Amino acid sequence: MEGSLICDECEKKLQAYHLDKLLDLSDTLIGMYEDNYSFEDIMEDNEPNDKSYFGDYNGYTNSIINRSKQIAQKNKSQVFDFSKIYSNVTRKIIGQDEPIKVILSTIIRNSMTSNPQFKSNIFLIGGTGNGKSETIKQIAKELQIPYVLEDSSKYTQEGYVGDSVENSIVKLINQAGGDIQRAERGIIIFDEIDKKTDNGDRSGVSTTSVQDSLLKMLEGCNIMTNKGMFNTELVTFILIGACEATYKEREKRLGKDKKIGFGNDKKEFKNKEEANPNFIPEDLINSGFKSELIGRMDSIQEFNAMNLDMAIKIIENSELSIFNSYIDELKKLNVKVVLNNREKIVEEIAKRAIELKTGARAIRQIVVEMFKKIYADVLLLDKKPGEVYICYINVETVRDNSKFELCKRKKQV
Ligand SMILES: Nc1ncnc2c1ncn2[C@@H]1O[C@H](COP(=O)(O)OP(=O)(O)OP(=O)(O)O)[C@@H](O)[C@H]1O
Ligand SMILES: [Mg+2]
Repeated sequence: MEGSLICDECEKKLQAYHLDKLLDLSDTLIGMYEDNYSFEDIMEDNEPNDKSYFGDYNGYTNSIINRSKQIAQKNKSQVFDFSKIYSNVTRKIIGQDEPIKVILSTIIRNSMTSNPQFKSNIFLIGGTGNGKSETIKQIAKELQIPYVLEDSSKYTQEGYVGDSVENSIVKLINQAGGDIQRAERGIIIFDEIDKKTDNGDRSGVSTTSVQDSLLKMLEGCNIMTNKGMFNTELVTFILIGACEATYKEREKRLGKDKKIGFGNDKKEFKNKEEANPNFIPEDLINSGFKSELIGRMDSIQEFNAMNLDMAIKIIENSELSIFNSYIDELKKLNVKVVLNNREKIVEEIAKRAIELKTGARAIRQIVVEMFKKIYADVLLLDKKPGEVYICYINVETVRDNSKFELCKRKKQV
């Protein structure tokens, strides 16, 4: 090549080397995100896209790299921004960081694979009102993945068994706006699944058939729907239950082993396995779940029971806090809530909620009850435009909702 410092052959090799590097790089960047972008996809229309283009290596390389990064970045924010989604969810759901981490990473991993072998299903166990359903809802919302939450207990109540489990597929397709491919990567949650065990369901309707049809879907099958054929292989299945009988099974298992030890509160275990306070598949199987079903659950995750500290944080810090919402709503009505004193009031709500034993659901009941009369009185006020009222609340208001004071704020001089 004229004016070139290297011979034609070396020039060609260098060109080939650059192009290969380029292709490698864009392939790696894009391949990572599994979005089937080809080299051509990231070329601009006016750009030559055959291997004969060897002009400005650097400019060309950089523009391709930048565009690859942009595509990668865009996809990343939709699918992979684990820490952002994790922090968004943990700002709402309090005290369940570990289960949130497991569920979120499982769903993200599932969304990245096209190999059904790498897809995992999850079993969630935990007492009522601890955030199991809310967590899934929040995660699915953040990830923008279609999901369907089914109440398993209705399958017997409504008298249809078996086929109705598959109705969830139709709902999932609808959730995905009719896009079957998107729905095939969605989430189906069977809540109250413990009502489907031999121990849980006393309705006399065969519960095994519900577990059987679940099993069929979990294994991966094709289901003909009115929108077309649906394959369940990549759907994330989440089974949820309070599973009291399973807790008892775990206690039995641990209790038996826990007795070996010195003193009353210092326990010693024979080996690690015996000391495992986590749920193990046998706990579920012994409490009435089919072993084939449990065998298809890759992770059994427990939700923590609400304690006082958690309850306080749910009231004070959760973005879903009903207590803070009430205060904000009243503010919108020109009523300033003055709490005397906030810490004590919050603690009182938390204590009362623990007594009710319905998890965070109790917080909602208490707060709604507490503000019921205040709200009604505020709506009855004959307020002139611009007038601001003050509502004084104290610890007693928590247990007696008539103990509050509502008065007009004096004009500041
Ligand atoms: N850990 C938590 N942090 C914040 N809010 C919570 C938490 N747990 C529950 N809540 C609130 O309580 C309500 C009930 O929670 P959720 O429906 O998730 O309970 P659940 O565990 O599914 O109970 P169940 O077993 O009865 O179905 C939700 O609306 C949610 O806002
Ligand atoms: Mg629930």
